Parts: sequence; structure tokens; C-alpha cells
Amino acid sequence: MTSLITGGSGFLGSSIARELISQGENVVLFNRSGKQGMIPDSIVDKVVFEQGDLACWAEVLDVVSKHKVDTIYHCGALLSGSAEESPLKAYEVNTLGTWYILEAARLFDVKKVLFVSSIASFGSYIEDPVPNTAPQYPSTLYGVSKVSSERLGEYYKTKFDVNFRGVRFPSVIGPKRGEGGASAYSSLVFEKAVLGEPYSIYVEPNSKIPLLYIKDAVKALIELGNADENSLNYRMYNIRGFSPTAKQIVEEIKEILPDAEISFDPNQDMINIVDGWPDCLDDSEAQNDWGWKNDYNIKDTLLDFKNELEC
Ligand SMILES: NC(=O)c1ccc[n+]([C@@H]2O[C@H](COP(=O)([O-])OP(=O)(O)OC[C@H]3O[C@@H](n4cnc5c(N)ncnc54)[C@H](O)[C@@H]3O)[C@@H](O)[C@H]2O)c1
Repeated sequence: MTSLITGGSGFLGSSIARELISQGENVVLFNRSGKQGMIPDSIVDKVVFEQGDLACWAEVLDVVSKHKVDTIYHCGALLSGSAEESPLKAYEVNTLGTWYILEAARLFDVKKVLFVSSIASFGSYIEDPVPNTAPQYPSTLYGVSKVSSERLGEYYKTKFDVNFRGVRFPSVIGPKRGEGGASAYSSLVFEKAVLGEPYSIYVEPNSKIPLLYIKDAVKALIELGNADENSLNYRMYNIRGFSPTAKQIVEEIKEILPDAEISFDPNQDMINIVDGWPDCLDDSEAQNDWGWKNDYNIKDTLLDFKNELEC
């Protein structure tokens, strides 16, 4: 079986690649840079790197036809900050790019397209926890591009029977996620504590954030891909994770790493962004339809961060 991962050298794509390689699949990574990115050295010789641009129809078509792809994990995108900085580019990469992926899937009989959407596809002032079918009126271009991609995927399923399925994730955290985005503190605080470095959190102790550990994110995508078609009542599914306050994160870390040096230096701009997000996504539809269940709560996440960073 051959899987194509768009954005495959990024944070999520590289973790999916690692898991698929461990399951014996052929993995092709489609990325703008064509470089190793976050792909670990241990699998760099086991994957195929293809340089290409999601916004270029010919390059998308070429990579899907050349590798006789069975499944596409469509992770390539401009994320929220970059999308606001370059809205037209974000529209081309995120929305047109999804269209090209779906069209290539239709033309070359790709068996499944798995798409990664986001909690950012919902706007503010919404019921919390956010139901699977909550109205989607996002305030960011990133969110708009996710909603349009979701609807395009559903259109391709209805009209052409392209087997489109997708998840909406909260903020995904894991080792080496980096400093981008207002939610970055929730990953960095774990990482710095394990590395024995001081860290200052830029939100209030009671700021709450919905989080999902990277290994659960990978598991959700792969399990949704394997789910029986007849059990699916939706094409898109909310995935929940856990929703700690910053204070709870610090308390959990101190229990395992009592010497961790963590302080608070709140920044009002960051607080406004984080406090504007819903506290959590209701994932009961994913639980009911395909048996979704998280493996990682906050404590397991910290322990696995420690394990991964110490390897
Ligand atoms: N990280 C999160 O918290 C989170 C939460 C919800 C959804 N998502 C979604 O998950 C997916 C992966 O996100 P990530 O966190 O791994 O981000 P990332 O920035 O690490 O990965 C995105 C990848 O897309 C690639 N890319 C960008 N423009 C491209 C183009 N024109 N052509 C080809 N490739 C291009 C980048 O090179 C990068 O490798 C995205 O679709 C994102 O919207 C992420």
C-alpha cells in the first residue's frame, strides 16, 4: 500500500510517516521544500521525498499518478499566522490545493483521502463543548479555508464517490512542535521542563486550552481511514483531547519534574486569542461511529514527551 502525505515533512505529517513506515507501508512525502524537515533520521531512507506545490495542479496530478497512491493524508497547508499574512496564497494552497488533491484522487482512483481540519473552523460564541454539527462561521482565513475544504470533500464524496474523510483537531502538541501560534506555550512548557530549561508562560494561570497529543492525532487519522464505511454517519469528525488550564499543566509537570522552572508572564494579546477559543470539541460522534478513544491524558502526554525527548 502506498500513502501520499501532503505537508509530509511537517509536524503532523512526519509523525504519520513514522507510524505508516512502522506498519510496513510505502510512504511518499509531498512538500514545497522537498527537504527532510521534521522527518526523523531513522526513517529518512525509507520514505520518498517529492518536491511540489499544492497550489500547482500539474505537480499535484503528477505526484498522485506517478506513485499509484492508495491513500492521501492531506496535511499540507499554510497555518493560521501565515494565512493571515498572505491570504491569497493561503486560499491557493489550502482551498485550491484541496480541490486539486480531490480531483487527482478522482482521476486516479485513490481509495481514500484523509483530511485534517481544525477547531479554528468554528467561530467564537459557540456552544461548548462544540457539537460535531455546530455551525461553522470562522473569523480567520485559515478557518475559512478549512471549512471550504471540508465542504469540497463532501461534494466530491456525494458527486464522484471519492472516499473523503476528515477530522477536526484542537491544538496538537508534541516534541519539537516549535514556537508558532498562540497555543505554542502548551507544547513548549512540557518540552522545556523535560530539557531542564526555564520557561515563562504568556497566558493567565486560569487560561484554558483544548489539546491533543500528537500520537493520538496520528491514531485518529489512521483509525478513521480504517473505519467501516457503513458505520460512518459523517465525513468530518470532531476529536476532543483534553482541556487543562495553564495552572493545571504546571501542577502536572511539577508532580513528575518537581525542579521544573516555570513562571507566568501574561501577554494580553495572547490571552485574548487563547481565551477566545472554545474549551473543547464534543467527539461523541467519532466515539459512536468508529469507536474513537484517546490514549493520552495530560499525565500520559508529559510522560511520553519525556520518553521521546530522552531517546
Ligand atoms: N498543529 C496543530 O495544532 C493543528 C491543529 C489542527 C489542524 N492542523 C492541521 O494539520 C495539518 C498539519 O499541520 P502541522 O501542525 O503539521 O503544520 P506544519 O506547518 O508543520 O506542516 C504543514 C506542512 O505543509 C507544507 N506546505 C505548506 N505549503 C505548501 C505548499 N504550497 N505545497 C506543499 N506543501 C506545503 C509545509 O512545508 C509543512 O511541511 C495542517 O493542515 C493544519 O491545518 C494542525
